[in-house]
Amino acid sequence: MPQRPYEIDEMISAKSIAARIESLSREISTEFSGTDKLIVVGLLRGSFVFIADLVRELDLPIEVDFIEASSYGDGMESSREVRILKDLRAAIEGRDVLVVEDIVDTGHTLKHVMGMLRARKPSKLKSIALLNKAERREVDFKSSWIGFEIPDEFVVGYGIDFAQRNRNLPYIGKVRFT
Ligand code: PRP
Repeated sequence: MPQRPYEIDEMISAKSIAARIESLSREISTEFSGTDKLIVVGLLRGSFVFIADLVRELDLPIEVDFIEASSYGDGMESSREVRILKDLRAAIEGRDVLVVEDIVDTGHTLKHVMGMLRARKPSKLKSIALLNKAERREVDFKSSWIGFEIPDEFVVGYGIDFAQRNRNLPYIGKVRFT
């Protein structure tokens, strides 16, 4: 499908992201300081850049795993279903788990994934989202840690795509149609 032309304006610089991750990692390292081996779970695909930077700042023994979820509407956004396309390799019962997400928008994806993981009886289950669009929320969900609160803008970069493009931008940008 032909893409409408657009430009990208920087919204959150690579430097600001790095500084925020450094500060969040200190909080996370404290929260899980007694954990034997924390399982850090990235939600594919958008979180791949964030999780890569985050785990390198964590001063903890960790294991990395991934889940891929896809959500689709049935005509009514608020009843969106979330499907699991790829599940964890690790069993998490009795383990400490941190789920890493790039952005919480309506909240359906992370709420569903957290519910599914909670049912597996981890000893501790927390989540971190780099970006939060609170005004778009359709379900009651709040991430344990949030990098940045952002307005309802079309964002790309640092793992986040627009029609599978722009995931490799080192910063978060705002799409402006030209
Ligand atoms: C995006 C994003 C989150 C989800 C957030 O994923 O990465 O996983 O949507 O939206 P929600 O809060 O409204 O559920 P997307 O489905 O675009 O897949 P991707 O991660 O592969 O880009």
